Amino acid sequence: MPPKRILILGSTGSIGTQTLDVIRHHADDFEIVGLAAGSSIETLADQAREFGVGALGLACADAAGRLHEVSSTATVFAGPDGLLEMVSATSPDLVVGAISGFDGLSSTIAALEAGIDVALANKEPLVAAGQFVIEAARRGGAEVIPIDSELSAIFQCLRGERREDIARMLLTASGGPFAKLPPEQRRAVTAQQALAHPTWRMGRKVTIDSATLANKGFEMFEVRWLFDVSFDRIQVVVHHQSIIHSLVEFRDRSVIAQMGRPDMRVPIQFALTYPERMDADVPGLDLAQIGSLTFAEPDTAGFPCLRLAMEAGRAGGGYPAVLVGADQAAVDLFLDDRIGFTDIPRLVGAALDDYDGTCPSSQGDVVTVNNWGQTYVTDHA
Ligand SMILES: NC(=O)c1ccc[n+]([C@@H]2O[C@H](COP(=O)([O-])OP(=O)(O)OC[C@H]3O[C@@H](n4cnc5c(N)ncnc54)[C@H](OP(=O)(O)O)[C@@H]3O)[C@@H](O)[C@H]2O)c1
Repeated sequence: MPPKRILILGSTGSIGTQTLDVIRHHADDFEIVGLAAGSSIETLADQAREFGVGALGLACADAAGRLHEVSSTATVFAGPDGLLEMVSATSPDLVVGAISGFDGLSSTIAALEAGIDVALANKEPLVAAGQFVIEAARRGGAEVIPIDSELSAIFQCLRGERREDIARMLLTASGGPFAKLPPEQRRAVTAQQALAHPTWRMGRKVTIDSATLANKGFEMFEVRWLFDVSFDRIQVVVHHQSIIHSLVEFRDRSVIAQMGRPDMRVPIQFALTYPERMDADVPGLDLAQIGSLTFAEPDTAGFPCLRLAMEAGRAGGGYPAVLVGADQAAVDLFLDDRIGFTDIPRLVGAALDDYDGTCPSSQGDVVTVNNWGQTYVTDHA
């Protein structure tokens, strides 16, 4: 088999670097045809040197202009349009969608429309514009393969199963680092404390989203769109050990769970090798050492972002795009120490309450609504 040709969008981040780690251990099975990031010139150039990659992209056009100083032989794709061009110019077999935030939408849709499968970590495109992403995949005849551990778990639980046999999807949640913190102390949580996630080392945005449980709400949208189930058939269950990555219940009440040590390289590798499996350079699961697995209801009163996401999901239309835009702006403000931790759900909730309900009918409309959500929060902070 010739090596699978991989384009990594967001190669300098947490998912991107772990994807490179997986590829490092399977050097003969993959060829990296392109690497792209936001503005991290040096890291991108180092990655290009190590993996011998000749096509590099940077969303920041200024940074792209300086890329030649450190990587003189590379073909450089500059700015958001440059990244779209890169998707077609590098003709990959698989695009790894590891850009953070809503900015990953257009490249995800461009790849799928061109018939290229996408191993998708980036949540926000599916939350804000799930219908458009799935329609693009259908038009292009391409597949979205989830990277997110919970989504990968469900994807794996469903292999060989029939759609009509599915009863419920059970999404596990660690509960976040502040699950046991008394509500009055949550108000004083700092960005630094929120960035110290107990289990996963992730980018800043997704780490804060995990602490507010907005992230779990976002995953409900991913389940909704990737597996075509209604919100009413998706349940969140808190599971502190993060060993069971998610479960599917079938009509005969049989429940299939996918388990493993919490290590993103496992679902990343599965997305890269799918439908095959390969050896992984990670330790195995020692259940006797773990001892017990515990479960609890999520605290939607203490962590309203999860409830807000569920409400936006059930309302549909433009509300999911407002949710994504408002959450992005609120997280940015929190990371800049300009609002408190509990202001995040307050501002996101206010944006959803004040939205006029207009339903986006195109990808461009989704961008407009997302911008409305961002601006609303910035103006009301
Ligand atoms: N980390 C995890 O464990 C995890 C698990 C599941 C899902 N996810 C999802 O995966 C996505 C990536 O997460 P992450 O933790 O890897 O984030 P991250 O560490 O912040 O990395 C983000 C990557 O995207 C690049 N980027 C940012 N804005 C861009 C733009 N406009 N155009 C092109 N590239 C851009 C960054 O480049 P620069 O370095 O130049 O800024 C970086 O390479 C998120 O949507 C997250 O929710 C993450």
